[in-house]
Amino acid sequence: MVNYKIKREVLNSNINFPVCLAPMVGLSHVALRTAIRRYLPSDALTIWPTEMLSSRRLPHEQLNRSPEVFFSDTDLKQGLVPQILGNNEHEIALSVAKLKSWGAQAIDINMGCPVAKALRHNYGVSLMGDIQYAKSIVEMTVRNTDLPVSVKLRAGLQNDPNFLLDFVHSLESAGASWICLHPRLAHQKRRGYADWSQIKFVRENLKIPVIGNGDIQIAQDVLAMIEQTDCDMVMIGRALTVRPWILWQVGKQFGFSNPIHFSENQNPPKNSIEEGYECGRHLLFTLEQFKIYFNENIGIRKFQFLLKNACPWLEFGHTLQSMASRAKNYSEMQVALESFFSREQSMSHYTDLRY
Ligand SMILES: Cc1cc2nc3c(=O)[nH]c(=O)nc-3n(C[C@H](O)[C@H](O)[C@H](O)COP(=O)(O)O)c2cc1C
Repeated sequence: MVNYKIKREVLNSNINFPVCLAPMVGLSHVALRTAIRRYLPSDALTIWPTEMLSSRRLPHEQLNRSPEVFFSDTDLKQGLVPQILGNNEHEIALSVAKLKSWGAQAIDINMGCPVAKALRHNYGVSLMGDIQYAKSIVEMTVRNTDLPVSVKLRAGLQNDPNFLLDFVHSLESAGASWICLHPRLAHQKRRGYADWSQIKFVRENLKIPVIGNGDIQIAQDVLAMIEQTDCDMVMIGRALTVRPWILWQVGKQFGFSNPIHFSENQNPPKNSIEEGYECGRHLLFTLEQFKIYFNENIGIRKFQFLLKNACPWLEFGHTLQSMASRAKNYSEMQVALESFFSREQSMSHYTDLRY
């Protein structure tokens, strides 16, 4: 068993688990959060993201009206940290007040999104072009809420460690409670290597907690990132959508109990075939959550998007993807999943996330 405790408080002293899910548009929604939570040890408390939410739209949103702002009762009870995009104080103030009234326990600011729309509005990763500007966004968020404010950022627009250091120091002095670093440059999007040495570099130089993110695919990678970077927590995006039992496996390593849905004598999948079997159970359970939260039109497209991200880890993932692409409604999707997983399937440890 690994002897690890979170060294600094991330969110608050109730957070005791070293892994969390990453904010991902189209993926970090209530249905997938609910499915992934099933694998969290019963005594583990961590933070939970939303998809990135526009502070232009949030003031006009109503709870549980659009998929991005659907929350389960469990979401609202523990660790919900919605992520916002924004640069206008009035919009940010209204947004954070609304999120707090809905149950947010902290607010995360997106300084990593490289898509054209975010760049056009001068937020997302474009905030990383100007230290003072980025600092002012954190300051304006902090002064408009009593919730902790965090920032998720990339390594920047260019490879410049001094700039990165000045940048994260300015976030710290602006009142950020923690940061999460995805160590890729803006132009890399999600290609190329995530350079974990930058997480170590930032960790060594900040007082606030640092969450590391990028290219985690199996439970051992979590341990490796903690060991190599000394980060306070590890955030996982794509791999957790398809291999959520990483939470269970890491929990075992750190001495946590089994997840509530598994008895204490059960064990997480041990090999690629057991993983294939559990993957089928996970995807079928996730589809049930889609049926609860999303109407069929939206839900089918979202489920196909989930499979696009999940299938590379399955040996015959392309077959599943093409079966699922023909599904027009939930029952056809269920038939596709059941038929695919009625045969033995296997999962690979690593797939190339970098292209
Ligand atoms: C489909 C998709 C959507 C994403 N959307 C967001 C987002 O809304 N906000 C954000 O900060 N990062 C977003 N990201 C980046 C992830 O949070 C994460 O930084 C990245 O995927 C690297 O982690 P991973 O290698 O564990 O997937 C997105 C990533 C993916 C794959």
